[in-house]
Amino acid sequence: MSDAIHSDCLVIFGITGDLAHKMTLPSLYQLQRRGLLTVPVVGVAAPDLTDDELWQLTRDSVYAAESARGHEVDEQALTHLVERMTYVGGNFTDAGLYERLAAHLSASSHPLFYLEIPPALFGPVVEQLGAAKLAEGSRVAIEKPFGTSLDSARELNERLHQVLDEDQILRIDHYLGKEPVQDIAFVRFANSWLEPLWRRQYVEMIQITMAEPFGVEDRGSFYDHVGTLRDVVQNHLLQVLALVLMEPPGAGADPVGNRRLDVFQSIRPLTADDVVRGQYEGYRDIDGVAPDSETETFVAARFHCDTWRWAGVPIMIRAGKKLPVKATEVVVRFRKAPQFNWGENLQRVTGHDDFLIRIGDPSGIAFGLRVKKPGVDEVEPQMLSLDFPSTLGDLPSPYERLLHDAMTGDHTLFPRWPAVEATWNIVQSVLDAMPPVLPYAADTWGPLEAQRMAKHWGGWRDPIELAHGTSG
Ligand code: BG6
Repeated sequence: MSDAIHSDCLVIFGITGDLAHKMTLPSLYQLQRRGLLTVPVVGVAAPDLTDDELWQLTRDSVYAAESARGHEVDEQALTHLVERMTYVGGNFTDAGLYERLAAHLSASSHPLFYLEIPPALFGPVVEQLGAAKLAEGSRVAIEKPFGTSLDSARELNERLHQVLDEDQILRIDHYLGKEPVQDIAFVRFANSWLEPLWRRQYVEMIQITMAEPFGVEDRGSFYDHVGTLRDVVQNHLLQVLALVLMEPPGAGADPVGNRRLDVFQSIRPLTADDVVRGQYEGYRDIDGVAPDSETETFVAARFHCDTWRWAGVPIMIRAGKKLPVKATEVVVRFRKAPQFNWGENLQRVTGHDDFLIRIGDPSGIAFGLRVKKPGVDEVEPQMLSLDFPSTLGDLPSPYERLLHDAMTGDHTLFPRWPAVEATWNIVQSVLDAMPPVLPYAADTWGPLEAQRMAKHWGGWRDPIELAHGTSG
């Protein structure tokens, strides 16, 4: 927990949007239920709403989220939540909105402004906050994407820094808020047997797969300007990778953030030869997608991390839409034991020594173990597995964690500017010279070229879809 000043008010720009409906409002309710929300909440958006209408919107969103999880709503907590909520409506680029907001926030000296608004408005809104003298003493949490290229990210950063210090800015990457993502570091550094093996001498390869079975149907016009590399690799999956590769955080300022940064700074910029891009068949027929679109809906990339721990270890990430399952998995593949004799019989060790961290639902850990096949003198590969939700109980949502940390000023799970700049630097070279996009059929693991990339090290491990609450 940080000793930074706690925010005395939470101001949410974009409270009527989809993200607020699906994530923010249900997360505020959970924080209220856990006694962690103690400040007034002010919703800001363009529609002309009354406080009553905001409360209704909040109730609807909490009921929808809780019923989807099969949970009863705690009416008392929900009432306490709405009682702390008020609304200020207006156009985000209109100075009048900020005058009204300043009057509304007269009792607050340390507000947290959370911007879940179109990215083109991040700069203008922060400038208006500055002009209305609302920025002083505040913190500002900003949704993704932070830029669409190295240059545009730098430009946005400079614009924000005209008004805010780095310590006032919290760049959100919701993957860092996921409990199983944080578990990567906890499991690595809290189990002494694992740490000595977690290095080039014992690790054959590292891979991360993020598979989504759905396409981009209702987001065509957004996605066609973005593509998979920008949408989930530059941010979410590189952040996950940093936790897999980083050194143990020690003392000093922002130890976890700085160790992640070391990783980004040690990864070579991608080249076109490191990357396979794919596009699922039928993508070009989607509303908002150009009929001759070259945007990728799948990417597989090989990274090189030049540290003593990882030099020479193949590190691969693949992500895509319309893949066979919904799953995100990190695989650390250990070198195989060679062989041994049992009596006269030479034992070949089959299967992979994979250590899996499942980030998707249900999250958990599994690893390959060789055992004796009953009745015969042979080795049989098996998996030992731990399912987080059924073992540990319900995990808080990423936004619960991130909103709480933003209010308490804990920066650990928010990438600072040097880290964001370094991740853009890794992908920018390939954004400038993209390899061609190859078609793939829906429900497959992307173009064959992507399969070939990993073949030499035993291939990709295709995640299987697990019904929630099962292990295996
Ligand atoms: C978002 C991307 O940032 O992350 C989406 O824009 C993607 O395309 C989503 O589907 C995945 O998030 P999660 O938490 O569902 O894995």
